[in-house]
Amino acid sequence: MEAEATRDKVPIVGPVVASFFQQLVTMTGAKTVFEMGSAIGYSTIWWARAVGEGGRVHYTDSDAKNAEKARRYFQRAGVADRITIHRGDAIELLSEQKETFDIIFNDIDKDDYPRVLRMVPPRLKKGGLFITDNVLWSARVVEKNPDATTKAILEFNRELYKSKDFETTIMPVRDGVAVAVKK
Ligand SMILES: C[S@@+](CC[C@H](N)C(=O)[O-])C[C@H]1O[C@@H](n2cnc3c(N)ncnc32)[C@H](O)[C@@H]1O
Repeated sequence: MEAEATRDKVPIVGPVVASFFQQLVTMTGAKTVFEMGSAIGYSTIWWARAVGEGGRVHYTDSDAKNAEKARRYFQRAGVADRITIHRGDAIELLSEQKETFDIIFNDIDKDDYPRVLRMVPPRLKKGGLFITDNVLWSARVVEKNPDATTKAILEFNRELYKSKDFETTIMPVRDGVAVAVKK
């Protein structure tokens, strides 16, 4: 999958961030993960392995071809039975969920990050983790004249730190991972 992602320029989290996610699951005992923006299912497989048997991971992506590739990878990885595949807008899909999750992982289009933040709190358990990738955006977040996408990430980061719902740390791993614990 890493080779395919490099070849086709699919922006996956990669093994260092994925191992960190696995550690977070081990630390918290998380069993349910809702992933927003799953592409070919690379990070989804790490979540699925981490939550183990009896765990459940929700895959979401707006691209049908990605979902089909991911479905085949889930079979090959032997974790298909613990993954629910949803195709469509991850924000809408999250809003339709009736349950609350142990972990919500946000990796969709960055311009939508502020909207994601508004949706997440009621769908996360107390003590649950809201995890977001690319919050340092290749250091563009410290540029003098940020573009619209960078502005959206900056707004997201500020609102996340200000939020009374979360305690947050940005881990400077790869492209920056925000880990926010729901109070
Ligand atoms: C950065 S990639 C995900 C990589 C994946 N999390 C991994 O690390 O293996 C982002 C994916 O989100 C999808 N996407 C972007 N905005 C979306 C949205 N609003 N709803 C659903 N999927 C979206 C894109 O199609 C793309 O495949």
